[in-house]
Amino acid sequence: MTRVGFFDSGIGGTSILNAFKSLCPEVDTVYIADTENCPYGNKPKEKIIELSRRNVEKLLEKGCDIVVIACNTATAAAVDVLREEYPDVVFVGMEPAVKPAALNSKTGIIAVLATQGTFNGRLYQETSKRFAKDITLIATVADEFVELVERGETSGKKVEEIVRRRVEPLVASGADHIVLGCTHFPHLKKVIEQVVAGRAEIVDPSYAVAKRIKALIADFQK
Ligand code: DGL
Repeated sequence: MTRVGFFDSGIGGTSILNAFKSLCPEVDTVYIADTENCPYGNKPKEKIIELSRRNVEKLLEKGCDIVVIACNTATAAAVDVLREEYPDVVFVGMEPAVKPAALNSKTGIIAVLATQGTFNGRLYQETSKRFAKDITLIATVADEFVELVERGETSGKKVEEIVRRRVEPLVASGADHIVLGCTHFPHLKKVIEQVVAGRAEIVDPSYAVAKRIKALIADFQK
């Protein structure tokens, strides 16, 4: 029986875990929230690699065959190194869904909410160059969203105000797609939707990633 391990800097990656569980409730899963070291967003690349390696070791000790890096920041910093160091492990990484947003944009303006670490990464840089070269891409760091989610604050007036401060300028700039490029952010999706009020599409990759994990399991079991 395949066992799928997930890790994130904190509880954010449960957005991916929950999407996966709704798709494959029978599959055995393990989730590691590295809350002690959260956030990863502003940490140096080498530090994130070290923390990611430690998370992978723990998941392997627990018998996982597939490791989902349920964190855009950790993927940006560490996925290449991890794939090299653990050639027998199947890794699933995350990167902001710039491609579908850019392809479907009518205004030619899209916004990405993510951490600085994710924006610095090779994956984001390459994908943006490839698919969004004729698009105005507004890259916005929203570390305060990570803090809210880690504190379990995902609704209410105060949360709405914090979200509005960050999101309203994106919509006002004409962005018609807002990409949730951090696994913490789907936890705030309802509030983000309230603020956006239908003026832009919110791109949440959780379900697409869950489908990708499901397909990999099928390959793995062949
Ligand atoms: N959940 C992480 C991500 O997807 C970021 C949170 C953090 O800064 O640790 O990028």
